Amino acid sequence: MKKTTKEDYCWWNPFTQMEAFLQRSPIIIDKAEGIYLYDTNQKRYLDMSSSMWNVCLGHNQRTIIEAINKQYMQLDFSSPFRASNSKALELTKKLTNTCQDKLKKVFLTCNGSDSVEAGIKIARQYSGLKNTKKNKVISLINSYHGVSYGAMAASGFEEDKKYFKPIPEGFIQIPQPYCYRCPYNKTYPACNIECARFLEKEIKKQGEDTIALFLMEPVMGMGGIIIPPAEYYDIIFDTCKKYQILIMFDEVTTGFGRTGKMFAFEHLKHTPDMVALGKALSNGYFPIGATLVKDEIWQEFLGDDEKRFNHGSTYFGHPVGCTAAIETITIIQQEDLVNKVKGEGEYFLKQLLELKNIPIVGDVRGIGMMFGIEFVEDQKNKIPLNKATMLRFISTCYMYGLWAHFAGNCMLIFPPFICKRESLDTALTLIKKAVHNVIRKSG
Ligand SMILES: Cc1ncc(COP(=O)(O)O)c(C=O)c1O
Repeated sequence: MKKTTKEDYCWWNPFTQMEAFLQRSPIIIDKAEGIYLYDTNQKRYLDMSSSMWNVCLGHNQRTIIEAINKQYMQLDFSSPFRASNSKALELTKKLTNTCQDKLKKVFLTCNGSDSVEAGIKIARQYSGLKNTKKNKVISLINSYHGVSYGAMAASGFEEDKKYFKPIPEGFIQIPQPYCYRCPYNKTYPACNIECARFLEKEIKKQGEDTIALFLMEPVMGMGGIIIPPAEYYDIIFDTCKKYQILIMFDEVTTGFGRTGKMFAFEHLKHTPDMVALGKALSNGYFPIGATLVKDEIWQEFLGDDEKRFNHGSTYFGHPVGCTAAIETITIIQQEDLVNKVKGEGEYFLKQLLELKNIPIVGDVRGIGMMFGIEFVEDQKNKIPLNKATMLRFISTCYMYGLWAHFAGNCMLIFPPFICKRESLDTALTLIKKAVHNVIRKSG
């Protein structure tokens, strides 16, 4: 295979330092089958990332492909403005049924960022329609909500924002529920869940009548698979209720079974006012997302024309995307994959926890089929593993044919739901092999 040169490589990849990327001679994926990816050199990778956390049913799902092909022949596009299409209606009904009608209305979008963006705008307009002055959005440090200006402003990665100023006003981030590195230097449960109680302090600091929305990932993905203690959610929901603040869960990664429930909020006794969805919704077959909304919020937008939600984009509610999503949800339900995620996830977490015996593994976290391994210089002082060694570990994983995602000093593992136990075992063997290889070379 001819080496790709800077001159003949034209794609400007997202979130990528192209200089280093092209120097490394990029992996070019050319084919996929089930849980495997193949590059142009026919090298095979075991996909422990469900591609980008979205291809949860693996590749080549025939029923989805056939349904999409059929839909292209019947209705390949339909405008979402002042008209509807039967596939969008079928999908939105299916989505509300899937959450037992707890969220009854669905705003269709094209991806996760769009879904969050729509939710932020809905919250701000809702507050305006209720004649309040609330417009601020509180979210978590190290949360990730997407790339559009609102979603980026709500995200808690400051590095990602530094060249894009001015950032929209009214977005505040508070410390996250990160027990391994408690922002308050406390230990659970003696901590009194200080991180959750901080929300009320911040609300008072900002002004009790200024906050429109609290936005969080129920389990933080890009932030390193941060799973809050159970009490955290109770405190957050109580606080938001007390100050009449809407809550949106960003379930772009946790939605559709990833945590061992169809939606992560189903682990709780609370239902958020809005839920942002994307990624797994179409198993990667079409860019589509959705914002689920409680009926009482939607009701507020009814009446005079000026109350309408002035937001939308050409491809929202695309009939082919809706078809892909309907088929994806149907497979998840028919094959009982949510329960499979729970069972196999528990098995794999137990195996992964054994990695804690390795000196550079600081913490292992997981729920359902989302796992994080946090690497450190030293388990005692918890200093994050230096960047050079982390980069060596990442390239060793790829060298061994293991496809995963990495964020800072964390390895993030999102196996496809269809992954068999043997493949999980293989993944563990490859991770161990890569870690030991790196330790050997660093030592
Ligand atoms: C929790 C969360 N929200 C939103 C997004 C943005 O989704 P998209 O990349 O589809 O715009 C992501 C993407 O990784 C995510 O992890």
